[in-house]
Amino acid sequence: MIQEIEIAQLRSLTDLIKTRFNYDFGNYAMSSFKRRIQRIIELYKFSSFDALLEKINTCDKKYFQDFISEITVNVTEMFRDPSFWVELRENILPNLLMDNQTISIWHAGCSSGEEVYSMAITLKELDCLDKVRIVASDVDMAILQKARDGAYSLKNMELNAKNYERAKGTLSIDKYYKEQNGKAMMDKSLVKDVIFREHNLVSEVSFGKFDLILCRNVMIYFNQALQNQVLKVFHESLFKNSYLIVGSKESLIWCEIANKFTIVNNEEKVYKKTKD
Ligand SMILES: C[S@@+](CC[C@H](N)C(=O)[O-])C[C@H]1O[C@@H](n2cnc3c(N)ncnc32)[C@H](O)[C@@H]1O
Repeated sequence: MIQEIEIAQLRSLTDLIKTRFNYDFGNYAMSSFKRRIQRIIELYKFSSFDALLEKINTCDKKYFQDFISEITVNVTEMFRDPSFWVELRENILPNLLMDNQTISIWHAGCSSGEEVYSMAITLKELDCLDKVRIVASDVDMAILQKARDGAYSLKNMELNAKNYERAKGTLSIDKYYKEQNGKAMMDKSLVKDVIFREHNLVSEVSFGKFDLILCRNVMIYFNQALQNQVLKVFHESLFKNSYLIVGSKESLIWCEIANKFTIVNNEEKVYKKTKD
């Protein structure tokens, strides 16, 4: 049984990661970061916290990428929180498309891409997929590859199908994938124009302007200081009167730039940038 990890030990780990690999986990919410480290120690059968520290001190980049994948929480599903997708389909997207010939969307922290496919399906059903430019990013390169591959477990498709129905999808979700080698292979034409790119919200700056940013269930793993920092990047990356959407358990209320946004839908966590 591994001893309880102390805050000072976590600090030595985040410092080491920053020095060796230039990834800064110092402002991740420490309770969940600690749980993930505990899990890694058990999963990889490290004899102690110090053994993990030693491994990180000597490992190569490939091993570190696997470590990143273990640290980050990648849980996702298609049409997650279906009522939000109804709001998107019935209000947000029609409003944006009424005012603009083309629109741009950024999925920040897209994980394995289910959110991106949900967006593409919704846009296709609104007959406007070709009017939208989508960028989908994540810090975890392995999960980003899964998003590119769009090959999902058939078991998960049951929940995805239920969500899709509750999100008022107009067809049947099985129109958008084929079963192959025990996987649901998504229709790649949905994401043919999507740019999947590695992007670290902690250390990288804004890379463009968007009409809609989705960053759902990502900042929940950051502390308040980091949330403030990332929200500044989102503010800078949004056109005026465009939308930022966070996860159902997240909020902008406490952030430093809350006064530059108004709440459009509190239930679905939809915000509009109203001030530069
Ligand atoms: C729980 S998933 C959320 C996926 C999807 N947005 C959803 O709501 O279902 C969180 C994602 O955030 C990513 N993430 C964590 N830290 C990040 C960072 N610093 N920069 C970019 N993405 C990050 C993780 O790799 C993970 O894929």
